[in-house]
Amino acid sequence: MSPDTRVIDNLLSRSSLAGAFLAAPAPSEAELAQILGAAQRAADHGRLRPWRFFVVRPADYEAFYDRLAAAATRVQGDPSRYDANREKYRLTARAPLLLVAAAKIDTAHKVAPIEQTFAAAGATQLVLSAAHALGYAGFLFSGPGVFDAGFKASLGLTTTDHLIGFICLGSPAGPGKPGPSAAEAVRDGLASTVKQWDAAGAFKPVF
Ligand SMILES: Cc1cc2nc3c(=O)[nH]c(=O)nc-3n(C[C@H](O)[C@H](O)[C@H](O)COP(=O)(O)O)c2cc1C
Repeated sequence: MSPDTRVIDNLLSRSSLAGAFLAAPAPSEAELAQILGAAQRAADHGRLRPWRFFVVRPADYEAFYDRLAAAATRVQGDPSRYDANREKYRLTARAPLLLVAAAKIDTAHKVAPIEQTFAAAGATQLVLSAAHALGYAGFLFSGPGVFDAGFKASLGLTTTDHLIGFICLGSPAGPGKPGPSAAEAVRDGLASTVKQWDAAGAFKPVF
């Protein structure tokens, strides 16, 4: 495939957009297959495919938020927080599609569990980038509920698996929260996160 500058420009321009700023339309089924297909191309040590995605449709949102808020509240150990948790999670309900992203860890495999988790996190990022490439916006959120064993079990995950988070996806319908632009984030990130290693240990800036 020949180099395509639009692809790199697209990767560099992705930003998150919170669920409250998302609206219909959701990706079509064909686009969803492309978005989740992109995740299948994540770097994958051992070809274990340790990522899992669960698609949640609006008809099931209320039941999903009930369970997620209950999970967060259990982890916090304070039942009085249930309503606030549910309200917070429900802010994402404007998004026309929700994906649960998880890492299913094969603890018996020689590839270290943390490397399997890295692969699943990479797959999750590919979902966000592929959605952006198709003109959609998204936001990955988590909260304490991701650590609840009962909630994980309800998704077929064990205590050695990880819930990475919840991706709300949809069409951009608002400016989002104020923050650095994608271009600023790239510029500042290059300056603060990239160093040149050399044998003298000088760690010089590259950009
Ligand atoms: C695993 C994971 C969980 C996250 N959970 C939350 C969350 O619960 N709430 C939140 O405001 N941002 C959360 N974020 C951060 C946002 O998804 C987003 O990356 C951040 O707001 C920066 O926006 P940007 O992607 O445009 O740089 C999470 C990010 C990751 C990687």
